[in-house]
Amino acid sequence: MNNLGPAASLRLGSQIQAAKATNWLLGGLGDLLVQVENPKWRENPYPLYEQIRQKGPLYRGLSGTWATTSHALCNQVLRDRRFGVKNADGSPVTGGALGAVANTYPESFLDQDPPDHTRLRRLAAPAFNPKRVDGYRPRVQQIVDSLLDKIEGQETFDLIKDLAAPLPITVISDLLGIPDADRGDFAEYGARIGEGLSGVHSIRQAKDLIHVGSELVALFDRLLKERTKDPGDDVISSLATAVGEEKMTARELHGTAMLLLLAGFETTVNLIGNGVHALLAHPEQWAQLRDKPELAAAMTEEALRYDPPVQATMRIAHADIELAGETIKSGQLVGVMLAAGNRDPEVYPEPDKFDITRTGGPEHLAFSSGIHYCIGARLARIEGEILFRSLAERMPLLRQAGPLERRESSTIRGLRAFPVTAKFPAQRSQ
Ligand code: HEM
Repeated sequence: MNNLGPAASLRLGSQIQAAKATNWLLGGLGDLLVQVENPKWRENPYPLYEQIRQKGPLYRGLSGTWATTSHALCNQVLRDRRFGVKNADGSPVTGGALGAVANTYPESFLDQDPPDHTRLRRLAAPAFNPKRVDGYRPRVQQIVDSLLDKIEGQETFDLIKDLAAPLPITVISDLLGIPDADRGDFAEYGARIGEGLSGVHSIRQAKDLIHVGSELVALFDRLLKERTKDPGDDVISSLATAVGEEKMTARELHGTAMLLLLAGFETTVNLIGNGVHALLAHPEQWAQLRDKPELAAAMTEEALRYDPPVQATMRIAHADIELAGETIKSGQLVGVMLAAGNRDPEVYPEPDKFDITRTGGPEHLAFSSGIHYCIGARLARIEGEILFRSLAERMPLLRQAGPLERRESSTIRGLRAFPVTAKFPAQRSQ
């Protein structure tokens, strides 16, 4: 599985080229959905989403793919069981080069429709019940405190590398029970696959992603064997019990563990990065949080609404479905534009305003909706709240200290580098 032979390499190479050519062509013809991939919108995609919204609540791209920017329609599609995440041939709807790499990975329940989705999600759910997740609070606070202790004396630091990334990867490693000796590799593999979620741009990268996937599977398989003999109170142990009871296969355990790594890591890094970026770009909001650190939970919600880490998801119609006066034919795709729904003026007054005291309106779509609603939402909220609160209390002078670098992705929105300082200006050496 970690080998991409010559024939498969050629196939993948042509897929990468074909995807680039098709996007270029459709973009030239004025397809607004293809524009979403255009680097010129990377810094700020929201005006483009607005252009799509102006075309009506349901837009049809030239490739035949539909998309919605409406909060109500996003919710409706995500909750309607006639929409799913699998093609008729059983493959996930993720297309192109990324799909080809993903096909070599064990499937996760994010890529499954019921009944498999229901069965596998239920096996993972106990680790995320509210009582258990609330019990992680002291541990999250401890991780945040020790990260801030390390950074505090430094002239400048990278908010992503030094704070946003280590927090969630430590939390997931704890949750899964990754042994200390494997944590470095685990974090590195998670980061490399996370980068791949931005799109696969070369055969070399595709091969690397396939290799990393197989290394992770080998690690999870080793842990499955160890925890079957000697279980602990971590998630891999409880999934190993389910394998022993034939409620899931070993491959399904690999897929679930990989999902928890990817879904829990990349997204939370970007909640923290995008959240701090929004705060520092709105000094009056940052001042409010410093004055009242207890606003940190509300600020986390507003950050998730204003600039969500997952900008969009996709569903496929499993039947002909009437939606907003149109017929979505069975087999057609609908882009669910979560970030655009989060700025829908129908439900949020002044949607482009970042306001940490915002009240009213429906729940934002950052965690999706319906049966695939993020299983880790409560945990992510706790991580965000504790980190934003601790920053407001311990680093009131925090500000940007150099040019930031954005990730090259339109679906996963986040920063790759974000230099900041928390020193008094006079304290800084020349
Ligand atoms: C700010 C952080 C997070 C964001 C923005 C986020 C976002 C999302 C979204 C949008 C989905 C659904 C995608 C779809 O409908 O196609 C999802 C699903 C999921 N998330 Fe999260 N997530 C976050 C944190 C976490 C954490 C911390 C974990 C676990 C440790 C996690 C685990 C999952 C899992 C397992 C699913 C699949 C649920 C299913 O298919 O039933 N997420 N997440």
